[in-house]
Amino acid sequence: MERFCLTKKKTIRVNENTWIVFFEEQLDFSPGQFIMLETPKLVRKPFVLGYWEENLAVSIQVKGKGTKWIVEEAKKIKGHGPLGNGFRRDGKGLLIISPTCLTMARAFEKKMNVDILVGSKSPVLFPLGYETVVGDENFLKKLSDLPEYDWYLVSGSRGMEEVCWEHLKGEEVYFSLEEYMGCGIGACKSCAVFTKNGVKHVCADGPIFRGDELCWS
Ligand code: FES
Repeated sequence: MERFCLTKKKTIRVNENTWIVFFEEQLDFSPGQFIMLETPKLVRKPFVLGYWEENLAVSIQVKGKGTKWIVEEAKKIKGHGPLGNGFRRDGKGLLIISPTCLTMARAFEKKMNVDILVGSKSPVLFPLGYETVVGDENFLKKLSDLPEYDWYLVSGSRGMEEVCWEHLKGEEVYFSLEEYMGCGIGACKSCAVFTKNGVKHVCADGPIFRGDELCWS
């Protein structure tokens, strides 16, 4: 795992609480991998790697002091990574994502044959260049009417994962999981999830898992 320092270039706001943060530097990574970024009290937070306007970028939902600091104040940010396993799949895929995964979608587009569907709870502030559905009701309607793809990958909130699983059960569907993370390398066990193959760690075994491997309650 590499340690590095990223220089924040600019930010753009996507919706009520989500921003895209651009960096000056580039990193070599595979779609699906993530980095841990350090915030002032040395709390590390995971963000899936991606691009926007050809810059290395991450999408960030502001939830607390650490994410607010990254979006509003940080100039240089210490990071670790790339972490986790990259994802590779042939055939035509559909990525179903929340705005917090927009930059990840760009990384997938560069390497795989994918369409992108964005589901946002609140209105988006500029055209994203992808089909975008706003509000839960419209999102559910869209899910009921999805065209056939060889595979699907869902990356968003737990609620989004659950409704997508309900609609796509039986298809080849993957989920990029977001769990609380401490170390990012399989040492602290804080990102454990139960799967049909035993306990797995999102940072080291994932972050992407097949839907039929996960335990859904
Ligand atoms: S974050 Fe420490 S084991 Fe996954």
